[in-house]
Amino acid sequence: MCSSEELEYPQKLLDYQCGFLVSKTMFTACELGVFDLLHEVQEPIAATTIASRLSTSVDGMERLLDACVGLKLLKVELKNNEGHYSNTDVSTLYLVKSSPKTLYHMITYYSQTTYKLWHFLPEAIREGKSQYERGFGISSKEVFEAIYRSEEEMLKFLYHMDTIWTICGKDIIQAFDLSVFCSVYDLGGCTGGLAKHFVSTYNETTVTIMDLPSVVQTAKKKFVTDEEQRIHFLEGDFFNDPIPEADLFVLARIIHDWTEEKCLNLLRKIYQSCRPGGGVLLVEVLLNEDRSGPLTSQLFSLNMLIQTEGRERTPTEYTKLLADSGFRDIEAKVTGKLYDVILARK
Ligand SMILES: C[S@@+](CC[C@H](N)C(=O)[O-])C[C@H]1O[C@@H](n2cnc3c(N)ncnc32)[C@H](O)[C@@H]1O
Repeated sequence: MCSSEELEYPQKLLDYQCGFLVSKTMFTACELGVFDLLHEVQEPIAATTIASRLSTSVDGMERLLDACVGLKLLKVELKNNEGHYSNTDVSTLYLVKSSPKTLYHMITYYSQTTYKLWHFLPEAIREGKSQYERGFGISSKEVFEAIYRSEEEMLKFLYHMDTIWTICGKDIIQAFDLSVFCSVYDLGGCTGGLAKHFVSTYNETTVTIMDLPSVVQTAKKKFVTDEEQRIHFLEGDFFNDPIPEADLFVLARIIHDWTEEKCLNLLRKIYQSCRPGGGVLLVEVLLNEDRSGPLTSQLFSLNMLIQTEGRERTPTEYTKLLADSGFRDIEAKVTGKLYDVILARK
């Protein structure tokens, strides 16, 4: 039921209307290097200095800085009637590019790719399909062909994928006791962001990342060093190449990329390669069973429509896919962070 206050003055709708202004303000401050500069100088500085150091207009920069203060991404103090700006603790930890916990790469991917594609949300809804062709002028039969349209774009995507595991990876790996699984295949394991949490949590576990050849080559060069123990790579296509035998298969943000038919084909193939007593671990955002939320999962499902062939699902929908592929003892766990986990056994 709506409160009479809400009917009198629709604050929520006014806030939603401005949602993208908020996103774009944070994206722009990140991309212009505002948080990095303030971190470098280590003291509050005036808009004129920031504008000069970042080669922007003073007027534009001052408005951007003030909006960041309103968003609590920056602090301001007045000295001789002039605003001097500095990072908040959260910005220092998550928005400064050099921070070990930086979200910078994910934010710039949202700004440069996701934001652009969301311009075509009405078309995506009407046509029920990905908007890469409209957004970036590339016609491609394959979702990842479109995402990896150049080496530069592939690298941006890989950094984007890697980012979230620095803040959510541990919760995923610890949601179930996975110590019984010694050989793990992370299918579409990308940069090894999740694999690193696996090997640091479970001393006996070996993780092999199977991904497309170009991704594996880049991951080896830029993300997983030779010193990283117990992480191996296999170049391959999980739809068309054989999947080696293992105790546990991890599919993190994989099932949500594909059609029902492709998901079933992949899960049935995994079932054949899974050792008896082994399992499969799905890592995805979950929709509530009654489809009432969470809002982030609902918005991500729209994003999957715009960018892929897939969708987000409820635990029951994942359970059905897994059961139809032969798996049993299916259990979902909500981590309280962005991504949740479903474990199923053979
Ligand atoms: C959405 S990303 C998820 C990456 C990673 N699992 C994570 O959560 O950070 C999908 C991954 O699947 C890989 N991929 C897509 N199609 C593939 C295929 N046919 N065979 C192997 N890997 C594939 C992509 O290269 C990418 O690394």
